[in-house]
Amino acid sequence: MNAVLKPSPAGGDMLSVDHIDTFYGESQVLFDVSLKVGPGEVVALLGPNGAGKTTTLRSILGLTAPAKGSISFDAQDITRMPTHEIAQAGMGWVPDDRRIFPTLTVARNLSIARKTTRFRKWSEKECFEIFSALEYLMHRECENLSGGEMQMVAISRALLGSPGLVLFDEPSQGLAPKVVQDVMKTITRLKSEGIAVLVVEQNVQSALQVADRAYVMNLGKIVHEGPAAQLRDDAGLRRQLLGV
Ligand SMILES: Nc1ncnc2c1ncn2[C@@H]1O[C@H](COP(=O)(O)OP(=O)(O)O)[C@@H](O)[C@H]1O
Ligand SMILES: [Mg+2]
Repeated sequence: MNAVLKPSPAGGDMLSVDHIDTFYGESQVLFDVSLKVGPGEVVALLGPNGAGKTTTLRSILGLTAPAKGSISFDAQDITRMPTHEIAQAGMGWVPDDRRIFPTLTVARNLSIARKTTRFRKWSEKECFEIFSALEYLMHRECENLSGGEMQMVAISRALLGSPGLVLFDEPSQGLAPKVVQDVMKTITRLKSEGIAVLVVEQNVQSALQVADRAYVMNLGKIVHEGPAAQLRDDAGLRRQLLGV
């Protein structure tokens, strides 16, 4: 583990979501959702389309604050903290639509993401070690990149923000199987560096390969929680909860 990484906060959780209810206008989308991610732990959040997975990430990031319940990150209450302060505290995000500035170069997209937190600092050189193609793309405009290349930029951008936790929203969406494997390897690499990960996936098999624990959501509620190995090994349970 990197020397820059200080010991985990008392109580042990990097992220703790406790009994949150979240609404879009009048419509309630999350019902009493609770989940935890330990330091250096990879946790999968699974479930069908519309279950509330993205809304859970949006609640954690302060983009759609919960009406009830609380969220703590790295021993700080972040329930009503503005998104930029949550990011400054060391929360990284790889959004489902990647949100890269299309008319800027890769280099520019990466340089504006750089920040210092209490967690390990990452260099561009280390990102090139993970994604060897990235170095050769630095002067390209992002709108000309393939889906897989954009995902490399999105993940590198999260790393350059010195995260203690990275939230991934369907990182394998739209990517070729080989690129999906690269993304999953990167998640394992982050874990080996002591970074905690919460990964939302429709690609159940890939997520369960890399996760330590898994939650399943349906209709805005957590309907299952357990070791990832349990869902990986128990085809009956997997079919019952996820239909795969
Ligand atoms: N901006 C929004 N306004 C209103 N309803 C929304 C909005 N975004 C998502 N929803 C609804 O919230 C529910 C959960 O959506 P979402 O969190 O995106 O699910 P998932 O990521 O699991 O597919 C769905 O019924 C969806 O239609
Ligand atoms: Mg979603």
